[in-house]
Amino acid sequence: MQITLETKPYATLVTDAIVSYVFDDPDPIQGTLAEIDKSGNGILNKLATSAEFSGKPLEMTLIHAPAGLKATRLLLVGAGKRDKFDLATLRKIAGAALRYLKSRSIKKLTFLVRENDLSEDSAQAIAEGAITANFETDKYKSDKKNDKSIETIAIAGYSDKEKSAGEKALNKGRIIAEAQNFARDLVNEPSNLLTPKILAEKAAAMAKESGLSVDILDEKRIADLKMGALLSVAQGGPEPPRMIVVTYTPATPPKPGAPVIGLVGKAVTFDTGGISIKPADGMEKMKYDMAGGATMLGVMRALAALKPNVKVVCVVPSTENMPGGKAQKPGDIQTAMSGKTIEVLNTDAEGRLILADGVHYAKQLGATHLVDAATLTGAIVVALANINVGVFGGADQSWTDKLLASAKAVGEKMWQMPMDDEYREFIKGSFADIQNIGSGKGGGSITGAWFIREFAGDTPWVHLDIAGTAWNDDAKPWLAKGPTGVALRTLVNLAMSY
Ligand code: BES
Ligand code: ZN
Ligand code: ZN
Repeated sequence: MQITLETKPYATLVTDAIVSYVFDDPDPIQGTLAEIDKSGNGILNKLATSAEFSGKPLEMTLIHAPAGLKATRLLLVGAGKRDKFDLATLRKIAGAALRYLKSRSIKKLTFLVRENDLSEDSAQAIAEGAITANFETDKYKSDKKNDKSIETIAIAGYSDKEKSAGEKALNKGRIIAEAQNFARDLVNEPSNLLTPKILAEKAAAMAKESGLSVDILDEKRIADLKMGALLSVAQGGPEPPRMIVVTYTPATPPKPGAPVIGLVGKAVTFDTGGISIKPADGMEKMKYDMAGGATMLGVMRALAALKPNVKVVCVVPSTENMPGGKAQKPGDIQTAMSGKTIEVLNTDAEGRLILADGVHYAKQLGATHLVDAATLTGAIVVALANINVGVFGGADQSWTDKLLASAKAVGEKMWQMPMDDEYREFIKGSFADIQNIGSGKGGGSITGAWFIREFAGDTPWVHLDIAGTAWNDDAKPWLAKGPTGVALRTLVNLAMSY
């Protein structure tokens, strides 16, 4: 799909559909739309007064052969109340319009930005919304229902003077959205086609293509480095683990003492639960237990093109969690790379085990500021459903605040959870330094976060629990069912703020 900025007047544009949006206001036909209405004999006003459209969020009204336009169709999308309108809404409108028109076999669409919204950020948001909306999860279907594809999108409404800035923003949106789709494609792969070895190969290929440096640690190097927590999860199945390391270094070398961001992502390519096996019902979904790792790799892909002024080290521990004859058993005691001993009371709490070694290794590689992302707990789904990412911070609240500000700026919903010291008591071990599940009742996401924090130590650290938000059980008007690529935009924004 090609995406461009168009500065010609909308009335002259030859396209399959012009898309614009209408607010749920008493008088919705104003500005550009009033002009279109005038040349179109008042059809929009008639529709509005007949209550055929009201501007309710994502309501669609398709008008054929609109008078006064060269375009074949005019699609009006509801934008909700004007005072609630923001870039997140615009992103969704662009996505929903694309999916609506695509399902009707339309090839070319032009998105007309309304007079008050002609900012660079709008061009970026529309590009992001459209490109992520265009992603389908039918890769393995012979009969591709969604083979219909949009060929070109133009973003219109901008003047010649705004063109170069608009194009720059559009390009940024394209880079971010394509990185998000790259991550979603990895998450969508079933575990028989995406083992830790294959994930590492794909990460290496991406790094090579993007000009990033890469180091793939195989099982032998993992053992030499005494990454006992990662190895303990991997021992339950025949697929060897990998520790994937991708590094971005800015062109102008950072001064000594400059911050180094460490991104650590959980990549369990399939989580059966191990000996603490999961119920069969819904287990197929556990192929997405590598979404944290996929997100981090996607972030690196975007950063290679956007070139922030900060070094970023991405560490992705990857393994399956299988209940084989050699699998670890409840009560087993493992020694992590850091030297801490862990009592494994539940083999299904494996994400925190592999992150323990991932976080420790990221620090060893020089990371001064850590973020980890993981589909860590079912408990976060109970707490926040599929709406907010759970955010857990260490002692340095300013680092957590920086991440939350990035999330806000890019319109990703994230919610900070409490990390009182009392919760730490829940994971004090009886027979080892710590145990991998809480002994208290409840607070499952918090004890999981505390476990990882033990390995971050004093290094500023934020943990993102994306178990509820990395996968959409149902399609949205603006996004296919399945992987969402959540947190990628936030982390790209975070790195770009340097
Ligand atoms: N991968 C799961 C978490 C998960 C659950 C992700 C549901 C997505 C949807 C994780 O490894 C896990 O099994 N966690 C356990 C922890 C428990 C044993 C303390 C859980 O949440 O049940
Ligand atoms: Zn698990
Ligand atoms: Zn898991």
